This record gives sequence, structure tokens and C-alpha cells, in this order.
Amino acid sequence: MIAELGGQALRLLPPEAAHVATIRLLSKGIGVPGRAPVMAPSLKVTLPKSGLVFPSPVGLAAGFDKNCEAPEAMARFGFGFVECGTATPKPQAGNPKPRLFRLEDDLAVINRMGFNNFGLDFFVRRLARYSHAVPIGANVGANKDSEDRAQDYVTGIEAVAPHADYITINISSPNTPGLRGLQDKASLTALLGRCGAADRKGKPVFLKVAPDLDPEAISDICGVVRGEGAWLSGLIVSNTTLARPESLKSSHRGETGGLSGAPLFHPSTEVLRAFARNLGGAFDLIGAGGIASGADAYAKLRAGAHAVQLYSMLVYEGPGLAARIAKELVALSQRDGFAAIGEATGKDL
Ligand SMILES: Cc1cc2nc3c(=O)[nH]c(=O)nc-3n(C[C@H](O)[C@H](O)[C@H](O)COP(=O)(O)O)c2cc1C
Repeated sequence: MIAELGGQALRLLPPEAAHVATIRLLSKGIGVPGRAPVMAPSLKVTLPKSGLVFPSPVGLAAGFDKNCEAPEAMARFGFGFVECGTATPKPQAGNPKPRLFRLEDDLAVINRMGFNNFGLDFFVRRLARYSHAVPIGANVGANKDSEDRAQDYVTGIEAVAPHADYITINISSPNTPGLRGLQDKASLTALLGRCGAADRKGKPVFLKVAPDLDPEAISDICGVVRGEGAWLSGLIVSNTTLARPESLKSSHRGETGGLSGAPLFHPSTEVLRAFARNLGGAFDLIGAGGIASGADAYAKLRAGAHAVQLYSMLVYEGPGLAARIAKELVALSQRDGFAAIGEATGKDL
């Protein structure tokens, strides 16, 4: 696709211009395979609490397709599910450019986009047209200038619920000032109370959390999720990190924003493991952060994830990555004697 479709030429553009061009091409079907790869039956997963069924546990993470313009294309590249958004009630320009940086030597990305998006009306129109070739998640957020952020989530949930297969409440972007404060015990309790009363049309709802959480914060979040959030289907672990590992080599390492890609793999997997241990299978878990190979995806599953998502490594590997990872997962699960990939979930806990 993009790698095949002149990915090298696109790589010469500044990162955000390359991304906008990519989405434009994909939304027109340019460079998109005629049909999706056939998935091995052993890759099919059923998430226990939500009942969601994915033909492969490898999904597209939010932020790649913020306005739901190219979900069909991403399904054709072999993702087992696609998540679009984050969409906010009102359209929003986001932070000043430049706000997206490639850290090539680190196989990483830093972004401080700030929820740039065309708003919920546009998003829902696109979502309503999607064929559901694979399940779609709608990721909702709050406007930067909102006076009642919880209401923004309620508005988002109710707008997307008729058309989405699942909904994600994103309270973990580091690029909207104060947003991560919604992860604090009292704020999260209030937020989940309000969102739990929203009309979600029976659709599963996930809470997306940050990787920058100490054991006490993880335990607090799990407590609230079991209590006021018992209606949730599960968690997505994790968003980008504010941490800057010493090992970063690229000149852009000092840019403000969230770091994702390879350096996020280990910390996000450990936070996922901590959530899995605490929640003990009572909630579905989707693992994200730095997945670059079948082995990475497999490690997230073994650490407790029922499915995984990726975004940043598409920048370096192109969209064929999803199908490659799916193939590698089949080989890994066969090696370990699993009849279905879902049997790997939690094996390393
Ligand atoms: C440029 C960029 C924009 C992103 N925008 C969003 C977003 O709008 N909403 C969201 O929930 N996550 C967003 N993310 C986070 C990803 O969905 C994912 O959680 C994170 O990047 C870790 O996965 P990765 O290392 O495979 O990219 C964004 C990530 C990147 C790199």
C-alpha cells in the first residue's frame, strides 16, 4: 500500500503532509488491495465480556483515521478491526504545526496534534456509510475549550452508538491540557457515572488509558472500573507516553507531545500486565504501544490482552504490516500448541 504506493515519495514530505496525502489516497481506494487477505480461522477472537468477534486480533489504533475517512481501506490491508477518531463534538484545529515528528533512528513518533478533527457530525456521516467489513470502533473525546468535558463524552457516545461496533472513551491524550486528570479517582468516578447513563444502544464501551501510571494509579483506576465503571466492557492500554527514555537518539526527541512506537513497547506492555493482573479477566483488554512484529503482538496477548492495536510502526513498515503480523501470530500460536490464538491470552501472567 503506502510502502508499495510510493511510500518512499510520501516519506519525503513532512510527516503531517504525508499523512494527509495518505488518507486522501486511501479514502479514494488508491493503492488499496482489491480484497482483504483471507485470515486463518485460528486467528478469530471473541472478546469475553463485550462479545466482540474479530477475524484477527490485530487492529488499527485511533489517530490514524481521525475522521473515519478510510476504514474500508484499512480493513482491506488485513486489520481485524479498525478504530477511528478521536472525534470531538465540535470541529477543532488542534495545536499549531509542526506537531508530528518522525524519530526514525528510534522507530518512534512524537505527536502533539491536540485532537484536530472535523467534529462529530462529519465523523458520524462517514461512520454510517461504512460496510462493517471488519468491526469498527469509534473513539470519542472532549473539545479543548469545553466547559463540561463529561458532557462531551456523553454527546460522543450517543452520536456514534447507532453505527459503531464499539466505542472508546479516550481520556489519555497528553495533548489536551488537563484531559489526563480525568483518570484521577474522583474525576473518573464522576465521568463513568455520567457516561454509564448515556444511551449507548447496548454497544460495548472501552476506556483508553495512559501508560504513565504508577501502581497506585493503576489500582485506583481498576477500583473505579469495577465499581462505577462495571458497565464498561474493558480497557485499551495504552495511549502515547510523556516519558522520554534515555535511549532516544533522534534529534526530535526533545519535542513536546506523546511518544509512541518501539520505545513504548516495553512500558505499555508492563502497564497492560498490571491491569490484567488486577482485573483478573473480568474486563476485556486491548493492548497497544510499539507493536512492530508478530512477536510483539503475541507478547501483548500473553501479557493479558484479548486483542491488540498499532499505529506508529505503519509509518516505517507500511500497511502491509497488519497482514504480516497476522501470519506471524499463526506461526507463534502453532509453535506453542494453541489451536486458536485466543488461548495465548494471559499465559505470561
Ligand atoms: C500521530 C498520532 C495521533 C494519535 N491520535 C490519537 C487519537 O486521536 N486518539 C487516541 O485515542 N489515540 C491516538 N494516538 C495513540 C495511538 O492510538 C496509540 O494508542 C499509541 O500511538 C500507541 O500505539 P503505537 O505505538 O502502535 O502507535 C495517536 C498516535 C499517533 C502516533
